[in-house]
Amino acid sequence: MSYPIVTPEQVAELVKNGDNVSFSGFTAAGTPKVVAPAIAARARKEHEAGRPFKINVFTGASTNDFVDGELARADAINFRTPYQSTKDSRAGINSHNIHYCDAHLSQLSQNLRYGFYGKIDFAIIEACDVDDQGNIVLGAGIGNTPTFALLADKIVIELNEHIPQTIRGLHDIYIPNDPPRRVEIPVYKPSDRIGSPVLKVDPAKIVGIVKSNASDGVHGFSPIDETTMKIGENVCSFLINELRVGRIPKEFLPLQSGVGNIANAVLHGLGDSKEVPQFDMYTEVIQDSVLDLMEMGKCRFGSTCSLTFSNQTMDRFFGNIDFFKDKIVIRPGEISNNPGIIRRLGIISMNTALEADIFGNVNSTHVVGTKMMNGIGGSGDFTRNAYISIFSCPSITKGGKISNIVPMVSHLDHSEHSVSVLITDQGVADLRGKSPIQRAHEIIENCVHPDYKQLLRDYLKLSAGGHTPHTLSAAFGFHTEFLRSGDMSNTNWADYTK
Ligand code: COA
Repeated sequence: MSYPIVTPEQVAELVKNGDNVSFSGFTAAGTPKVVAPAIAARARKEHEAGRPFKINVFTGASTNDFVDGELARADAINFRTPYQSTKDSRAGINSHNIHYCDAHLSQLSQNLRYGFYGKIDFAIIEACDVDDQGNIVLGAGIGNTPTFALLADKIVIELNEHIPQTIRGLHDIYIPNDPPRRVEIPVYKPSDRIGSPVLKVDPAKIVGIVKSNASDGVHGFSPIDETTMKIGENVCSFLINELRVGRIPKEFLPLQSGVGNIANAVLHGLGDSKEVPQFDMYTEVIQDSVLDLMEMGKCRFGSTCSLTFSNQTMDRFFGNIDFFKDKIVIRPGEISNNPGIIRRLGIISMNTALEADIFGNVNSTHVVGTKMMNGIGGSGDFTRNAYISIFSCPSITKGGKISNIVPMVSHLDHSEHSVSVLITDQGVADLRGKSPIQRAHEIIENCVHPDYKQLLRDYLKLSAGGHTPHTLSAAFGFHTEFLRSGDMSNTNWADYTK
């Protein structure tokens, strides 16, 4: 290899205040581990010397503590897109220290190529291998790496010795043409490969190789609680019924599922059902439970943007790579989350809401309307284009002081026009083909916790009419009451209608 071996500190010295710095990966998978902490240390030194030093951070999705955590704690982030999920970056965003553009994950690559964000100064890319011609074998997550590499002035490779060489061949790198030369992206089934197993970059742009040796460090799941189990069961019985009545074809359809315990419970439930045939996944994240389903023969194929496995599952995966190799493809986020492909394949999407309202609008991002939690992520890419879009959440949170179903969402991510089905631990509200008032009755009677049913029935009665019968002075009554007394169930509609 003819590239210079450099230290993370040498890379950090090249970075200037205000630079646009992009990082490979998607979730912690494939995300660099050693350069970002060195940039954070450089920022601290600059700040101590009284000089400004902040960078603009572009990624595929969430990252790891080495990128978002370290940089946020060093107050080294000016601008951040498209998604984050660490405590420290969240704090920086909510205190206006970090300017955050919460964006659909499928769109960042093309928006960068369209020039909407200016130029990319650095692409920091985690790799398993790179040759003198600039052919790079990536790690376990791709995200926006192909476009970052294409646009960046300088590329730094974090060569991670921990990644087994057998990862070679799992990736499928493809960048679509931009308008007016865009043509169909030729994925007709989840297993179709359309690109290259290696990322090809201009070797002249590679300014150095930094050595690293660390796992992605993804945590396993906590035990599933009763509420999560009930939500999982409700999602499964809904899907099985759709199959029985023929609204889902008997071959089944590819699934997208968000990450976390609810997704885990649903996947296990589908795996256990004798009625559900073998299925494929077309999703952005494949987590531990999918590997179990593949070993059982229930999940036939997984198209993903990352393998977000715990260390133990990652070892199991690479220990049996010959079995898994033809059952998985890792794609760029622009393809794993592509709206056209999602609509073509008929994906069933399953995502989690922070809150939903009685008319079927969903808030995935803002706690009580103002504080950013994580971001919209890929949920919008899938929800708007799915064959059936499902949102789930618990009916109550914080011991019942919060109802996750409210009169009007305090922030809107997914509108009533895109959400097909809402599912809580209480039951299923099928919103397809229903008017706002019909949806409200369906949601209140099937999804709302008993402690909040009457309050929401009474809210509906406050309105004199209209297609969507809101009472604007009371629409945020639950939220206002929560901010006042810490308990939404104390809401008294008379306070809002005087
Ligand atoms: N109002 C106020 N707080 C709420 C709330 C509500 N309606 N609903 C949940 N919370 C709080 C919880 O109490 C919890 O607080 P804590 O951290 O103090 O315990 C926190 O918000 C997270 O809730 P939890 O139920 O643990 O959330 P989760 O892990 O199931 O994640 C989302 C839910 C919506 C935050 C998460 O799915 C997300 O970020 N989604 C957007 C991106 C996405 O969908 N990606 C997948 C696409 S492929």
